[in-house]
Amino acid sequence: MLDGRRVLLVISGGIAAYKSLELIRRLKDRGADIRCVMTANAQNFVTPLAVQTLSGNKVFADTFSLTDEHEIGHITLARDCDLVVVAPATANLLAKMAHGLADDLASTALLVTDKPILVAPAMNFRMWGHPATRANMATLKERGVHAVGPNAGMLAEGESGLGRMAEPAEILAAVEGLLSSGPLRGLKALVTSGPTFEPIDPVRFIGNRSSGKQGHAIASALARLGAEVTLITGPVKLPDPPDMKVVHVETAREMLGAALGCLPVDIAVCAAAVADWTVSNASKEKRKKDPNGPPPAIELAANPDILATLSEKGSARPRLVVGFAAETENLLTHARAKLERKGCDWIVANDVSPSSGTFGSDFNTVHLITQGGVEDWPRIAKADVAERLAWKIADSVKGKP
Ligand code: PMT
Repeated sequence: MLDGRRVLLVISGGIAAYKSLELIRRLKDRGADIRCVMTANAQNFVTPLAVQTLSGNKVFADTFSLTDEHEIGHITLARDCDLVVVAPATANLLAKMAHGLADDLASTALLVTDKPILVAPAMNFRMWGHPATRANMATLKERGVHAVGPNAGMLAEGESGLGRMAEPAEILAAVEGLLSSGPLRGLKALVTSGPTFEPIDPVRFIGNRSSGKQGHAIASALARLGAEVTLITGPVKLPDPPDMKVVHVETAREMLGAALGCLPVDIAVCAAAVADWTVSNASKEKRKKDPNGPPPAIELAANPDILATLSEKGSARPRLVVGFAAETENLLTHARAKLERKGCDWIVANDVSPSSGTFGSDFNTVHLITQGGVEDWPRIAKADVAERLAWKIADSVKGKP
């Protein structure tokens, strides 16, 4: 809960500004007191009246408003809060922040505040990837500015890429992580995410479908609840989440080595889509095509099972080991069998049949199988699956030796 915590929300001018209305509602539901500053461009996307109605507080937009300055003043506005959240944070506002510009109320408040700042960038993927924005973000991070997102996906202009503002649930969770001491404070967690690639030769590989969205979201959710997280990820297109150690691997063996290198941990969540087999006759050189001969035979050998290994680690076993079961049929039966076979504590049964669209999408439909039974969760955003799971984990490990 955020009872009585004061958040100054800066809304800048991007299409994602409409999501700031949902963010205000969620922050209010958690008990936060919200004041909002809108840039002139933000008011082209959402009206101050909507923001004022939802926040229950006057909206500020003008540095030179005589009444606003008389009532509160821009310096007090920027400092009389526990956290400043910028959502959406446009490329323009991030650039102003990085360079110390103060040419409107939003940028002035951001320059004058002495409180932690969380930005939720939102922009076209080319703007996000531009060296200027990369440099501005690096500067802001170096100064201790926190960031959530952006996410990959379809952008307003009809193009796809990294630049979508984080979902309100993710921003809320980041706010809670920054403002609360967190139920997982003092605990270590490891999360595996993404696919593994098993080389056939230096050019080709076999691998699984996985974008890493679900695993990365879980790592972020655990970090926001205060856990010290190590994320071990196979090759994905996502940026490294902030506030955690990220280990990049390619093969299942590398993933196992990295996981064992993390021990001891209190919590392990294996969300990675690990290739079950590796190519035992992988070639050091690129295999040549013989137009007249048969295609080369690929010999497979079983990969080590990371989840099963962590589950049987004796005294180094994490207090709670959570696996995933990606199934295309008989979901719960197969998932229960996997829980038994691999020896983990909980399993998240995940429908990955082609019609589910789970791989790569922002949504997921899962069933959580624990000793207490099966919980059927509705189709919700992967960020929400992650948040729910992280809170379940927090409730479970509290008081567990
Ligand atoms: O990445 P996204 O696009 O967001 O999609 C999410 C997801 C579908 C990849 C994810 O939610 C998921 O279901 N992950 C598990 C995928 C998988 O490979 O499941 P499995 O049923 O084959 O494996 C069962 C469990 O054993 C998993 O926890 C897996 O990480 C683990 N495992 C499997 C094989 C192996 N050699 N080592 C393992 O640790």
